[in-house]
Amino acid sequence: MTRLFATLALLVTCGPTFATEKELPVAGKSSGSTEQISQAEKGYKALTQTAFIPAFWTQNAIPNAWKQWGVTEKPANYTAAVLERYGLHTAPYPNDGLPMGLRKASRVLSTGVGIDCMLCHAGSIDGKSTVGLGNTSLDVQTLFEDLAKVDGLSGNLPFTFSNVRGTSEAGGFGVYLLGFRNPDLTMRTPRKELGLRDDLCEDVPAWWLMKKKKTIYHTGATDSRSVRTLMQFMMHPLTMPKDFEKHEPAFRDIQQYLINLEPPKYPYPVDEPKAAKGKVLFNQNCAACHGTYGEKWTYPNKVIPLDEIGTDPTRHKGIDVAYGKEYSASWFGKEKNGWFVGGLPLRATAGYQAPPLDGIWATAPYFHNGSVPTLDGVLSSKARPKRYTRSFKTDEAAYDKVKVGWKVTELRDPPSEKLSPHEARKIYDTSKPGRSSAGHIYGDDLTAEQRAQVIEYLKTL
Ligand code: HEC
Ligand code: HEC
Repeated sequence: MTRLFATLALLVTCGPTFATEKELPVAGKSSGSTEQISQAEKGYKALTQTAFIPAFWTQNAIPNAWKQWGVTEKPANYTAAVLERYGLHTAPYPNDGLPMGLRKASRVLSTGVGIDCMLCHAGSIDGKSTVGLGNTSLDVQTLFEDLAKVDGLSGNLPFTFSNVRGTSEAGGFGVYLLGFRNPDLTMRTPRKELGLRDDLCEDVPAWWLMKKKKTIYHTGATDSRSVRTLMQFMMHPLTMPKDFEKHEPAFRDIQQYLINLEPPKYPYPVDEPKAAKGKVLFNQNCAACHGTYGEKWTYPNKVIPLDEIGTDPTRHKGIDVAYGKEYSASWFGKEKNGWFVGGLPLRATAGYQAPPLDGIWATAPYFHNGSVPTLDGVLSSKARPKRYTRSFKTDEAAYDKVKVGWKVTELRDPPSEKLSPHEARKIYDTSKPGRSSAGHIYGDDLTAEQRAQVIEYLKTL
């Protein structure tokens, strides 16, 4: 049983799910009706108070984690050291003393610690914990390896959870876990091969963009109305088909919470006249794909083909049709609620969805693979660093207000073989599979002054 936990005890899947093009929802208003809001409040409660899956680790795992750090005694400020090593953040809601993303949950005959959505979907910006912001500090690989070892297990994960700190192989989790399920979600062994790979290098999209999106995930593969897609995370080996049914209403509330979330506001001064010039340039050069902003916003929900956008194709190609078919035929693809009957199957798309840019100042690094650390790099392909590291801190000192995004240190040489895997994951090398920072050259023809104006405008979204 313990080995089953060690190997299967996985997480999420935020893989593709799709809809037919017809009948996508109408883009919403910024704030919902009273009924939606109270449902959203229920959703927030469910999200921050429910253990949807059993625990992975014992309660001793966190207090003893330091024994895996190569130090001789427990660090003095232990809580801060735990946050720093794994890239976790203090919970702004009651969480049994655990950081966001970890959660008290049941184990067979006892209580332990597991994870929840906030592990990846709650981050920190300007030093503030923020639910809905992707966690770009997280080292999910080290977290799972260390805690399994403290509990006396091998720490060998069934596949790579992350190659680079701040990104994960969440799509791989989905492919792996669905392989153990029959279409009705009863367990099957051996695992069905659905095209598992671990070089997708996924950056986590901000949840507050959900209100505008008709399709979600980086490829626009899933209808944003799907509730069951949010539940792929529940494919823990001890979760039974009836558990999925039971929690579906809670996930309907959670979806309302996501749709009603607002982005944080840029906390530093903005040069308004400069931003006004940037707005004009933005509307000329960018709005056709990214939409317009303000009270009467528009969002075209476009997917740009791979050969046109030119960003790294791995994530797009990396989730196989075999997975899409299996997903669409399973309980996940068969939604019966609301105004649609007969399911929300996955949809194959030609490339990557141009996301809305609300709160874009807070969501560095950029592109679906987190390959570009600043907006300046997004707008100037030649200015993108090839190999770099950063502090993974989220305070004002770590933030670059000129280039807008995270401050990085460029590295000339490849990482030394002697670095521990934990240290090596702090280096983003754009020559590695799935990590190219090429493409999206739409800002290259702007002058440096115009680029700075567009960046100033982007701060206001
Ligand atoms: C291990 C990290 C991880 C966990 C845990 C996780 N997610 Fe995700 N999530 C991701 C990543 C990465 C993506 C982007 C996937 C892609 O398209 O490649 C994503 C995408 C999404 C999206 C689509 C957003 C968009 O705009 O395209 C939603 C909605 C979402 N997750 C909800 C959830 C919910 C709800 C939970 C908990 C039940 C959860 N996720 C748990 C990593 C995670
Ligand atoms: C032809 C459509 C198109 C045009 C024009 C375009 N973009 Fe994009 N943009 C995209 C797509 C598609 C992506 C996602 C690429 C990926 O993640 O691989 C993207 C990504 C981005 C991102 C990163 C988003 C994130 O969350 O990581 C920013 C910022 C951005 N674009 C800004 C701009 C600005 C500013 C302009 C105008 C100078 C512009 N774009 C012009 C299609 C476009």
